[in-house]
Amino acid sequence: MTTKTKLLFPNPISSPFPIRPFSLYIHWPFCRAKCPYCDFNSHVDTQVDVKAFGDALCEEMTYMKSLIPTHPALSSLFFGGGTPSLMPPWLIDRLITHAQRLFGFMDNIEITAEANPTSIETEAMLNFRQAGVTRVSMGIQSLDDNGLKFLGREHSVIEALSALDKVCKAFDRVSIDLIYASPNQSPKAWHDMLSQALSLGLGHLSLYQLTIEQGTVFHTRERKGEIMALDNDQAANLYEITQKLTSDAGLPAYEISNHATAEQECRHNLTYWQAGDWIGIGPGAHGRFAKFDSEHNCIVRATTKTRNSPAGWLSSVVKNGHGIETQEIETLHDWATEMVMMGLRLTQGISLNSIERLCGPIDEWLDFGGVAQGIDAGWLHHDPLSSILMATPDGRIRLNFILSIILR
Ligand SMILES: C[S@@+](CC[C@H](N)C(=O)[O-])C[C@H]1O[C@@H](n2cnc3c(N)ncnc32)[C@H](O)[C@@H]1O
Ligand code: SF4
Repeated sequence: MTTKTKLLFPNPISSPFPIRPFSLYIHWPFCRAKCPYCDFNSHVDTQVDVKAFGDALCEEMTYMKSLIPTHPALSSLFFGGGTPSLMPPWLIDRLITHAQRLFGFMDNIEITAEANPTSIETEAMLNFRQAGVTRVSMGIQSLDDNGLKFLGREHSVIEALSALDKVCKAFDRVSIDLIYASPNQSPKAWHDMLSQALSLGLGHLSLYQLTIEQGTVFHTRERKGEIMALDNDQAANLYEITQKLTSDAGLPAYEISNHATAEQECRHNLTYWQAGDWIGIGPGAHGRFAKFDSEHNCIVRATTKTRNSPAGWLSSVVKNGHGIETQEIETLHDWATEMVMMGLRLTQGISLNSIERLCGPIDEWLDFGGVAQGIDAGWLHHDPLSSILMATPDGRIRLNFILSIILR
């Protein structure tokens, strides 16, 4: 484990941390098969020692708690992966119970589990509700069997819709993921698929443009000359269709790829995008949270990252009580940068005054020349009265470039 000390926040009295959302992320790294486009920390292993992983997740959770003795009750908990729907319900139950004992839960805590829509997993998923899960995010990915085949998915459209139907009967809050901009997907084909998805009456949709990630099978195929996704202009056309159809249906974007009806936004993901505090446990999980530094008698913001390899992570937890590989202390500049990078993904944008109050003089982290350039190009909107800076829909599709010109 490496520990790198940077800058410390002045003193606890002037602490920049009022009561803020506080979340827990639990990573389950196993999948039935590795999808050719996916670079998440996911592994195929048919011999998982579920009991040992469960013990280790509880132990690491307890260790993380020891780093932050004072904190608000959890506002959200997220089982991500990998494929959490492969976890047995008793383990979901055990982890939720352990989290509640350690951290406490807000009354209306949001507890999400990611799920793959195969029939076997769906039966188990129905028992997640008794364990306390309140929201399910299903990776349907496509409503076209050829599209599913291209993406290397194990389920068919019929199987996915039947799984969705069962899950919707058991859970009040259900979201689906779809991936668009596969090669040869026409604007009409995406228009029709998205219209069908919107007709399902869900309160939340995650609509991801296919990206070709390094280290994936799709990346290798692309390097060999195959076209694996639409080009930028074609994909931008599908993005525009997405904005129009979802807005008209009452599920406008609240983030680049996420759409919801009023109050159905994913509270857990908002914690990331609003640069809030969360703990991350399990292989390859990230965490970011305020903690008291007793050596320097002040509050600091720590970032943690655990080991990626499930076997390596497990042996570290057995040996040390945690699988943390790196732990760093953020500078105020790091934190301001994170708030701008994550906050501009959100439709509501960011309050420059609030970030300045927390992180210090605006000129130290924002380049107003770059902001003016973004405004002139129609990518950014700035309201000097409220100090809100937001990316326009045109800006949100080129956010990386915008960040490169506005961040110091
Ligand atoms: C952790 S993964 C999914 C969880 C679950 N195992 C599944 O596959 O349904 C989260 C989501 O990221 C999206 N995703 C993963 N890789 C992607 C890529 N290369 N391009 C676009 N979306 C991607 C998929 O929609 C996926 O459902
Ligand atoms: S997309 Fe989901 S099921 Fe496929 S490898 Fe990634 S995490 Fe596993």
